[in-house]
This record gives sequence, C-alpha cells and structure tokens, in this order.
Amino acid sequence: MNDASETISERKQTHLNLCLNERVRGNGADLSGVRLPYDALFSVSPEQLDTSGKIAGIPVSFPLMFGAMTGGTPAAAAFNTALRKIADKYGLAMELGSMRALIHDGTLLSTYGTGEVQALFANIGCSEITPSNASQILETCKRLGASGLCIHLNGLQEWMQEEGNHAFSCSTDTLSAFIARFPLPVLIKEVGSGIGGKCAQKIARLPIAGIETASLGGTSWIRIEAMRRNIPVSAQNVEALNDLGYDAVTAIKDCRKYLDKGQTLIASGGISNAVDLVKCLYLGADMAAIAQPLYAAWHDAGEDGIEAFVSEWIEIGKLTWRSTGCRDLKTLQCAG
Ligand SMILES: Cc1cc2nc3c(=O)[nH]c(=O)nc-3n(C[C@H](O)[C@H](O)[C@H](O)COP(=O)(O)O)c2cc1C
Repeated sequence: MNDASETISERKQTHLNLCLNERVRGNGADLSGVRLPYDALFSVSPEQLDTSGKIAGIPVSFPLMFGAMTGGTPAAAAFNTALRKIADKYGLAMELGSMRALIHDGTLLSTYGTGEVQALFANIGCSEITPSNASQILETCKRLGASGLCIHLNGLQEWMQEEGNHAFSCSTDTLSAFIARFPLPVLIKEVGSGIGGKCAQKIARLPIAGIETASLGGTSWIRIEAMRRNIPVSAQNVEALNDLGYDAVTAIKDCRKYLDKGQTLIASGGISNAVDLVKCLYLGADMAAIAQPLYAAWHDAGEDGIEAFVSEWIEIGKLTWRSTGCRDLKTLQCAG
C-alpha cells in the first residue's frame, strides 16, 4: 500500500517495482489456437527474407517495437537510454513512457533517456489532452526527440488509481480536435484490456497513424493499481475487472478490419516469445510491441540483457517467419 500523496515520479518508481511481481503478469497472449503454415522445404532462404516494415511512413528493420513504459523517475534514465540505443542499433520502433511527469516538471527530461531513434513515439493519456494543449505536447515531443505521439486509453487503470481520473471518458471529438491541431503522427493504444471492433471502428476513422491493441494477458494495470491502492477492492472484483476486454486474436482481427493498409496495427499485451510475434503478423498485425519483458531483462542483466533478449527474438522471429514459406510482411499477412 502506498500513500495517496505519492508524487508522479514516486508512482512511476512504484510501477517499475510492481511490474516485476509475478502476480501482476497475466497468462500471456493466448495464441495457442493459431497455427502458422509450415514449409518443410524452407524455400525462403535467410537472404531472401525481408523483415522490413514502416510505421507512420518511417522504415523499421524488424517488426518488434519497444512498448511504452517509463519516464519521470530517476531510475528510468539509464533504462530508457539503453532502450533507445538498442532500438537504434537494430532499426526498431520505440515508445516512451507517459510524458505527464515531464509536463509537470520540465527538469525530468533526462529520465526519458538520450539518444536518437528514428521511429520514436512519445506517450500521453487521453485524460491529459485538450485542443488547447496540442502545442505544449508538441513542444514536449520535440524535447524528447520523438517523431510521433501515442495516446493511451486507460479507463480501468484510472479508476483503480486512487488519484486517477475516475470519470475517465475519451470522446472521439476530443481526439479529433486534438489531432487536428497536432502535426506529428498519432497512434492510439490501450494499456492491457485491448481494443475491440466498436472502438476500433470509431478511432480508425480519425487521421491516425495506427492502433496498438494492448490486449489481455500481459502486464495487468488492474492488479498493479490494486496493489498500490489504499481503499481495497476485493480480490474477486479485481480479478473480474481484470478479465474485461479483448484477447489478442479478437483485438488484432477487429482492429485490422477497420484500419486502412497505410495505418499500422501493433499487437501487444503478453506477447512472450518470437513465435507469437510472427503469429500476430500472420493474423494481420504489422508489428508487435513488448513492454514488461524488456524491463525484466534490464533488471536482470542491464543493457546486455536487453540486447541479448532482442537479438534472440530477431533470430527466432526470422527462423519462424522463414518456416512459414512467406518472404515478407505482405505475403505473411495474406497467408493468414
Ligand atoms: C513499467 C510499465 C510502465 C508502463 N507505462 C505505460 C505508459 O506510461 N503509457 C502507456 O501507454 N503504457 C504503459 N505501459 C503499458 C505497456 O505499454 C503495454 O501496453 C502493456 O504493459 C502490455 O504489454 P506487456 O504485456 O508486454 O507488458 C507500461 C507498462 C509497464 C510494464
């Protein structure tokens, strides 16, 4: 239990500590029902395989994204710098943690790390945006070196936070008015309960660059906030709330249905191995994002830990991809 007067910076540290607790992890994105095609001939050679893609028009070498995590607490500085370095080295896309702490205290810039990444997305909650703060958020994106912004929808998390916005409600009018005044590409994501058909249909019509599903099975913000909360919610209600939303397969298929080809679909939430990453692509995603496993790798072995993790995922991802007999993203998506 934490004091309700925890500052944003302290809360960010508590989140980092709690995300390592096994109890806040779900059972993973359930992709066991998805069977990839298997080409026993391995007719696509390593040289023929093309794993490149694009997000908001920015090229990436491999469809693995570093999901939004942290910033605003001193411990985040080295972690974010290591993530930036490795994202740049491997040509990957990356999201930063929410910029809310930085908006409140401009001296926290270094906690979001240093180093250039081509496809870098800053992050902010839908509760924090208004048409009138678009220029302030743009300015903050520039300070962070971000080429785009990711807006998160986190209604259940806000309610679970004692200090959160209990009346969270994000209208497409608010999003639309903000985006009209915001010149950088915008992504929209959930934080662990997923985005399903009706919501996808509404937000895909906005001039956005893409959607990140953040569906069930990964880091649970319901459980994390329940552990922080002073006013207890019964374990039964926590678990019931934790089960609301969409699984990976439903979220990917629903979002793909409404997004244009030029809009990027990022699968995320409990994606725990490189085979599952390829399954997400087969189902129609353009890339997959992972968050907590990267922090766990950092916690265990620092920057080397993150690099070992990423290079293994790329190697196994390429092997799995070749085993499908598909030579590029378009072919793999069409096979699904
Ligand atoms: C420590 C931590 C902090 C996070 N902070 C943010 C955040 O600031 N903004 C956001 O949109 N999502 C945030 N997330 C959610 C992730 O981006 C992701 O949607 C979710 O954790 C599911 O992915 P995972 O199962 O791979 O962790 C955070 C996740 C972790 C683990």
